Amino acid sequence: MLGQTATASGDFLLDDLPGSSGRIDVLLRCIRAALLFSHGLRSDVRVYLVLRGGPAAPRVLRIDSKSARFIRPDERCLALLVKKTLAASPDDLGSQFVELRPGLALASGDLDCVLADLGEAALTMLEEQALDIRGVGLERDDAAYFLGDHLGFQPADRERLNALGATAVSVGPLSLHSDDVIAILSNELDRLEARTR
Ligand SMILES: C[S@@+](CC[C@H](N)C(=O)[O-])C[C@H]1O[C@@H](n2cnc3c(N)ncnc32)[C@H](O)[C@@H]1O
Repeated sequence: MLGQTATASGDFLLDDLPGSSGRIDVLLRCIRAALLFSHGLRSDVRVYLVLRGGPAAPRVLRIDSKSARFIRPDERCLALLVKKTLAASPDDLGSQFVELRPGLALASGDLDCVLADLGEAALTMLEEQALDIRGVGLERDDAAYFLGDHLGFQPADRERLNALGATAVSVGPLSLHSDDVIAILSNELDRLEARTR
């Protein structure tokens, strides 16, 4: 998730997330959509939030479903978890991810931190005007999916990902909220797994 304005520090208000956090609320809803199903946590998903807002930016928060604890569906609980993690960041944070809470790790840097951590994963952008997801062969394992926030993709990010061979897919004809796109993508991947199991 590329958060163009989402704050990279913990100094936002839980009672006014949209107004005080550079729209980190958009990314929190994406955490829920990517990691949780009803009464459960997916076992094999990592979420990277690229946080480009505020003086501490850029930073990347990584949430790994294998070891994360206390991931709740409500936005306020997620906000508190993220706020505490960002606030606990050491002064000498570098470009390597440092685990600050179970499953939650932080690095100083931008999209390149994510790309370095992903290694050889197949890269796909979720884009409104791209090929329909149902007409392309989706990757389930070692696959990384990139989404924009309320502001969409910056041209530089699109160019960087294109240069690395990323493809683009669309989940439907309308421009949707990012968390809804993740829900649809997860459903497509779940169906793919069920078919190939
Ligand atoms: C609310 S949309 C961005 C809207 C933004 N105003 C724009 O014009 O780019 C947030 C993100 O969700 C993803 N998205 C939205 N609708 C989509 C669709 N139909 N198919 C694939 N991805 C979509 C894209 O990654 C997009 O950047």
